[in-house]
Amino acid sequence: MKIRAAVLEEFGKPLVVQDVDLAPPKAGEVLVRLAACGVCHTDMYTASGVDPSGYAPTVLGHEGAGVVEAVGEGVTSLQPGDHVVTLFSPECGTCVHCESGKTNICVAIREEQGKGHLPDGTTRLSRNGEPMRHFMGTSTFAEATVMPEIALAKIAKTASLEAACLLACGATTGLAAAIWKAEVEKGSSVAVFGAGMVGLGAVVGAKLQGAEQIIVVDKSADRLELAKKYGATETIVAHDETVRDILDRTGGQGADYTFEATGLVGVMGQAVEAARMGWGVCTVLGVAGKGEKLEIIPRFLITGRKVQGGSFGGAKGRTHVPQLVDMYLDGKIDLDGFISHRMPLDDVNRAFELMEQHDGIRTVLTF
Ligand SMILES: NC(=O)c1ccc[n+]([C@@H]2O[C@H](COP(=O)([O-])OP(=O)(O)OC[C@H]3O[C@@H](n4cnc5c(N)ncnc54)[C@H](O)[C@@H]3O)[C@@H](O)[C@H]2O)c1
Ligand SMILES: [Zn+2]
Ligand SMILES: [Zn+2]
Repeated sequence: MKIRAAVLEEFGKPLVVQDVDLAPPKAGEVLVRLAACGVCHTDMYTASGVDPSGYAPTVLGHEGAGVVEAVGEGVTSLQPGDHVVTLFSPECGTCVHCESGKTNICVAIREEQGKGHLPDGTTRLSRNGEPMRHFMGTSTFAEATVMPEIALAKIAKTASLEAACLLACGATTGLAAAIWKAEVEKGSSVAVFGAGMVGLGAVVGAKLQGAEQIIVVDKSADRLELAKKYGATETIVAHDETVRDILDRTGGQGADYTFEATGLVGVMGQAVEAARMGWGVCTVLGVAGKGEKLEIIPRFLITGRKVQGGSFGGAKGRTHVPQLVDMYLDGKIDLDGFISHRMPLDDVNRAFELMEQHDGIRTVLTF
């Protein structure tokens, strides 16, 4: 079938929206008609050419939500009409990592996904008979996509797909980090660095867990205002003595939990130092530039702080995303408030411009 899709033709150039061919799903695969797709930093990062593992041409996009249109042979957990969120991080349930229960990094299809292929080593996307690679196993800047069954989370049909798509990456990263990765405890103190989609997700997650003190740091006063709406009890405009400031606000000790959501290694270091002696847990979520290193004075570790990180915030997509959707439906997570702009696929380059200007939290493309 022909679909409209936003193609990265050349690094550093605007995406080109055009017709491409999408083949039907093969065994274990599912055809999804997309309803909405968030625009995330990773899309722009790849489009810019800075990502060393990036390739072109490809259809970008990885924050999708839509409706199952057809399923390939052997697909048992999904059927036409089901509502789904796309997962760049699958959950097969049977690989050595999934079975361990210790990590969300499923290794079932990792190698082929990294090459831009579906698990059987081929692509469903093509143009003029030439195969075109998939991006992050998702390629959701398009009217439809074909994805492995294990990379789709089935969600409640009553949830808005525009809101649910945010759970395909950014929102879940912060929420899951606070709820399941760090397991923030009731009554605890939390410091979140960066109040973008990921940091705000961590704020909401910490609040849901019952944290008593939630300090949010950002450079932007507007973002800090928003953070207050989402549960920040105190805000700090980032300054030279941010760590000192957090220690002062936590009885000189530091926060029980800190979360870094900026992608800046300097800020990651601050998040380590702002974690409490004895048991403070620092969760690093930002993606740093290639080759950058995080410096930690070993004394911070010897004296009992822990440092961890998590792709997708450690979320197991097929297990946790439907739970987060239910929490959204219960009114516990205001996903709609994160959507600052809605626009058609044809305006995808405008969405990148807004992101560069830090205008709003998330743009959602609608189809
Ligand atoms: N772990 C994952 O799987 C995963 C998933 C999605 C995004 N990410 C990464 O998470 C990071 C945040 O993503 P986002 O979408 O929220 O980005 P964003 O750009 O919307 O938010 C980052 C925020 O950090 C703030 N900031 C900048 N300098 C600061 C400083 N010195 N101190 C405190 N705050 C500062 C910015 O003002 C901004 O509000 C990015 O690095 C992104 O690539 C990781
Ligand atoms: Zn993303
Ligand atoms: Zn697995």
